[in-house]
Amino acid sequence: MTISVIGYDGSPLAPAAGDRLAAASLVVGGARQLRAVGVPEGVPQVVMGDVEAALDAIGDGDRERVVVVAGGDPGFFGIVRALRARGHAVEVFPAISSVSGAFARAGLSWDDAVVVSAHGRELRRAVNACRAHGKVAVLTGPGAGPAELGRALAPHTPRTFVVCEHLGEPAERVERVRPAEATTRTWRDPNVVLVLDERTVAASAADVGGGGGGDSGNGCDGGGPRWVAGPGPGPAAWALPETAFEHRDSMVTKAEVRALALARLGPRLGDLIWDVGAGSGAVAIECARFGAAVIAVDRDEAACERIRRNVWAHRVRVAVSRGPAPAVLDHLPDPDAVFVGGGGPEVVRACADRALRGVVVALAAVERLRPTCEALAAAGFAAEAVQLQANRLAPLPGGAHRLAAANPVFVVWGAK
Ligand SMILES: C[S@@+](CC[C@H](N)C(=O)[O-])C[C@H]1O[C@@H](n2cnc3c(N)ncnc32)[C@H](O)[C@@H]1O
Repeated sequence: MTISVIGYDGSPLAPAAGDRLAAASLVVGGARQLRAVGVPEGVPQVVMGDVEAALDAIGDGDRERVVVVAGGDPGFFGIVRALRARGHAVEVFPAISSVSGAFARAGLSWDDAVVVSAHGRELRRAVNACRAHGKVAVLTGPGAGPAELGRALAPHTPRTFVVCEHLGEPAERVERVRPAEATTRTWRDPNVVLVLDERTVAASAADVGGGGGGDSGNGCDGGGPRWVAGPGPGPAAWALPETAFEHRDSMVTKAEVRALALARLGPRLGDLIWDVGAGSGAVAIECARFGAAVIAVDRDEAACERIRRNVWAHRVRVAVSRGPAPAVLDHLPDPDAVFVGGGGPEVVRACADRALRGVVVALAAVERLRPTCEALAAAGFAAEAVQLQANRLAPLPGGAHRLAAANPVFVVWGAK
């Protein structure tokens, strides 16, 4: 038996959806939605608190004329997935999603927005997406609402929150606040939060071509009309040449080494990557181009300035933290993966203690190889290492070529 799934956004139901409700033999839904749509008298209802319990009440499909009422578009982070997972056939009458409604209230386009859910999921991935991107919609949940988002982002991530409570309901309220203010207010569920970087919003508004030139945060949009929704397709090139970065005395991780480091770091949307001893910031910037949130750490003020210039030139977001590792790392949120380009085994040890997924270390001194491997192993990582030595083809007069040897580098990595 096909289950009719009706979305509700505060508007009157479409006639076909109203017909299904009028003929229902069982109606399942959230308390607010059941009240709002008006279930016909005498028809049994199941109030959906616990989704699994409600699905159990629907049974295995032998009931006639079951109607499920859910908020917004039930096919978008909604009940349709759970029903399909239990093998039910469904017909869907969607309403406007809370995300669509929130962007409408803010008067913004959203094909270039990142949409993340913290509803029943860990908050850190949503927070990292907000750090990395300038236009994010967050579906919130208990313990993962505007206050918790504000606490995670303030004061280092300047953003505007548009908190949209009870969209489409009489209790609807839309508030614009800074992350710090969000931590001190009381918010009502349900709500969806738009986390906006005003520069991104301005750039995307200026993009009359449809969003292609807009700033989704990873600097990889290229030009031309936007053709894919969300954060964009990712970088067309990586392991960029050293000439792509301002650097001092060739203090930049070479492209061949960066290629392996990036492969082992695996930076992506929702991740936080540290680049410790960042130098030019080349690794940090490449991680940001893959959509990750990134913090570049360097103790040298001139290096930090250089990193900021490189970040600006590549149109990415990278937070820069100046100070000596490991002490400065204490104040940073836990990373998924860390690249250590400078600092001894003590720094590697501190990074390995905090990294959730992986650590990659580039080093030149032979004596550091063993303590680095030991530091990774002590933190529970399976350590591997390789020595890389590239010989680049270099032109000679008369059209001939020679091999120009770069210094050998050890790349050590550990994964959990
Ligand atoms: C499981 S998701 C459901 C999303 C839904 N399918 C949609 O399209 O809006 C639940 C989350 O959606 C958001 N939400 C649902 N209804 C809302 C409303 N009326 N006003 C604001 N946010 C809402 C909240 O973030 C809530 O925690």
